[in-house]
Amino acid sequence: MDYKKNIDKVLYDRDILAARVVEVGRQIRADYAGKDLVAVTVLKGAFVFAADLIRAIDLPMAVDFAEIISYGEGTEIAEEVVLTKDVAVNVKGRDVLIVEDIVDTGLTTAFLVDHLRIRDPRSIQICALLYKPAMQRVEVPLRYVCFEVGDVFAVGYGLDYAGQYRNLPDIVTLKEIPPEE
Ligand code: IMP
Repeated sequence: MDYKKNIDKVLYDRDILAARVVEVGRQIRADYAGKDLVAVTVLKGAFVFAADLIRAIDLPMAVDFAEIISYGEGTEIAEEVVLTKDVAVNVKGRDVLIVEDIVDTGLTTAFLVDHLRIRDPRSIQICALLYKPAMQRVEVPLRYVCFEVGDVFAVGYGLDYAGQYRNLPDIVTLKEIPPEE
C-alpha cells in the first residue's frame, strides 16, 4: 500500500509544528534560566519533537533518553508499561524535564515520573507534544503542552502506528488502521 494514500486529515502541518515548538522552547528557556536542566526524551515517539525542542531552548542543558514500551498493541490502551532503556545521567539535585510525544491515559508518563523521582532530582516537569485530556486515567501534571487533541489516533512527527509513519513531517490521522504484519 502507498502509505501516504492512507492519510486522512492533517491535524498539524510542519509549519504549525515548527512555530509552536519554538514558542514552547522559549517558555522553557525563560523558566529554566539559571537551573540545571536535564531533558529526558521518551523513546521512541518523542525523538523528532525533542530534536526540534532542544534546539529552541537556548540554555546549557543535558540531554538523555528513556525508552518505555507499553503493551496493548496498536491503538489499544496499554495494560503493561516496561522500561527498556534507562537514563544514564545522574539526575540527583537537577531539574528534569520529561519530553513526551503524547499523554493519552497518562500511565506511561506517571510510570517515568515515579521511576525518576526515586533518584532525587530537584524538580520534575513534563513537556508533551500532544495531550488527550478526555483519555486521561492517571493524574500527571503537564507543565507544557504543544497541542490538546480529542480522541483521535495521530501519527507522524515521531508518532507511529505499528512502527510506521514516524517519518512523516506532519501530524495526521489515518483513514484505516492497516493490519499488522
Ligand atoms: P499513555 O496511554 O499516556 O500511557 O500513552 C502511551 C503511549 O501510547 C504514548 O507515549 C504513545 O507512544 C502511544 N500513543 C497514545 N496515543 C497515541 C496516538 O494517538 N498516536 C500514536 N501513539 C499514541
